[in-house]
Amino acid sequence: MKIVVILGAPGSGKGTVASRLVKSLPLRHVSTGDLLRAAAKNADSPLAKSVAETMRKGELVSDEIVGALVVEQLAKSKGDYEYFLLDGYPRNEKQAAFLEAELAKGGEKVAKAVWLEVPEEVLVGRLSGRRTCPKCGAGYHVETMKPKVDGICDACGGALVQRPDDAPENVANRLKVYHAKTASLLGWYEGKGVLSRVCGVGEADAVAAAVAKAISE
Ligand code: AP5
Repeated sequence: MKIVVILGAPGSGKGTVASRLVKSLPLRHVSTGDLLRAAAKNADSPLAKSVAETMRKGELVSDEIVGALVVEQLAKSKGDYEYFLLDGYPRNEKQAAFLEAELAKGGEKVAKAVWLEVPEEVLVGRLSGRRTCPKCGAGYHVETMKPKVDGICDACGGALVQRPDDAPENVANRLKVYHAKTASLLGWYEGKGVLSRVCGVGEADAVAAAVAKAISE
């Protein structure tokens, strides 16, 4: 299994690209944001409440919680796919080192890190206009990726919502956290000789095709 990480700022299009790649490649997509949103739905658990609040503010959930989720997904996917695409992980150098150590146990390593490059003003516009389907996870945008019927998911008919962390004050904090903690991974993976930079601006299908090319090289 070829381990690929897709990196980029909030709103750079990681989830959008991944949702296209799963249709054309034998690829398992694991989004730590999606896993954490699912875990946070258990309203009776204090831990779930704390995860939901951390995410709403745009802070990072603890390395231990997220690391355990990733290890579980890696174990579940063994042998079934050609590519394992991690979206949203790692998010700091401690997570990158943890991933490296976990993969090394099975003689594996990150084969490719794809960095989606998108200017900051584009990111803010994308996040403020994003709508998501809480039932199936599909993503839309009020201007650039409209559903066929306003407010309704094309895929499953669910009512579209705005993610709590897409409120303007939380977007600002997410970008701050990204620059403070995640952006240094560019140098981390460049140093390992596995980094590909892909322009994340343009038609989503074209961006996904560029990522597919980068990961198959
Ligand atoms: P997560 O869900 O990973 O959020 P994120 O990294 O902030 O990324 P987004 O999902 O916001 O954006 P995206 O790049 O996937 O863009 P999208 O494709 O949706 O994480 C959420 C939270 O969980 C974190 O803040 C943290 O609290 C926690 N967490 C997750 N992982 C963690 C970890 N490893 N450690 C600790 N905590 C963790 O696109 C955005 C919008 O743009 C959409 O509306 C889309 O339609 C539009 N769009 C996309 N591509 C294009 C295009 N080419 N042209 C026009 N519009 C486009």
